[in-house]
Amino acid sequence: MALTSTIIFIYALLLLQVSLGSKALEINALVKPKGDQDGYQSLDPSLKVFFKVTDLYLGKTMPIYFASDRDSVPTRLLSREEADSIPFSSSKLPYLLEYFSFSNTSPQAKAMETTLKQCELKSEGNEFNFCVTSLESMLEKTRHFFGTVKPNVLTTKILSSNHALFQNYTFVEKPLEILASKVVACHTMAYPYMVYYCHGHKGHLNRVFKIVLGGDNTERVEAVAVCHMDTSTWDRDHVAFRILGGGPGTSPVCHVLPVDNLLWFA
Ligand SMILES: *[C@@H]1O[C@H](CO)[C@@H](O)[C@H](O)[C@H]1NC(C)=O
Repeated sequence: MALTSTIIFIYALLLLQVSLGSKALEINALVKPKGDQDGYQSLDPSLKVFFKVTDLYLGKTMPIYFASDRDSVPTRLLSREEADSIPFSSSKLPYLLEYFSFSNTSPQAKAMETTLKQCELKSEGNEFNFCVTSLESMLEKTRHFFGTVKPNVLTTKILSSNHALFQNYTFVEKPLEILASKVVACHTMAYPYMVYYCHGHKGHLNRVFKIVLGGDNTERVEAVAVCHMDTSTWDRDHVAFRILGGGPGTSPVCHVLPVDNLLWFA
């Protein structure tokens, strides 16, 4: 049990850093891979989710890591009633560690603290961020962001049972750009139950694509790709720059969305 949870937490931390862009600065420090001089090849395969906007064309082949959270993180959102019965605040961390039977110095404790702190960040500028612990609160807060417009939702789907986490994939259909004026991306967080960190943007800082990929092992993945067009506020040590070259503001950074993440758009 303890070992499984440790794996879950470390794994979810990796996912987190992949998805958060500028907000992931503190979290980067936790997962910075060793031996960066060797660049791409020495990186943990789970970080190979980044690519360039110019890679988005029919026939392009590239190695991608598709996290499939199903076996490793909780897969069900709590009901609002259940969620509301457990405190969700960094000030209650000592109580929560006791509640979930994690020691103060465990990786789980560190991950929970990181998640709670991330969830307590205030929205700034054009960005709107929030965490949700139940489906009801996700729908409520998303509705609030979109106002009177009804949003659509996109997810990444792995359409085969023999999923390989890391392999070469080829774009088997022309990437389809989704034109959206408002986008909210919700990422699963490292926590003992399912928590989503959602961040929304207005305007065209991000481009969203629906992509269809064929794996070397013949599997098919229908995925969501997000391209961050403005990386000027990103940390220069962001792992995406190590993989793609360049630095803050020099070029857009795209990444695939892991399974179980949600992208709301209107
Ligand atoms: C992807 O294909 C390239 C070129 O054929 C090969 O060198 C590389 O090992 C492959 N990567 C994976 C993860 O299979």
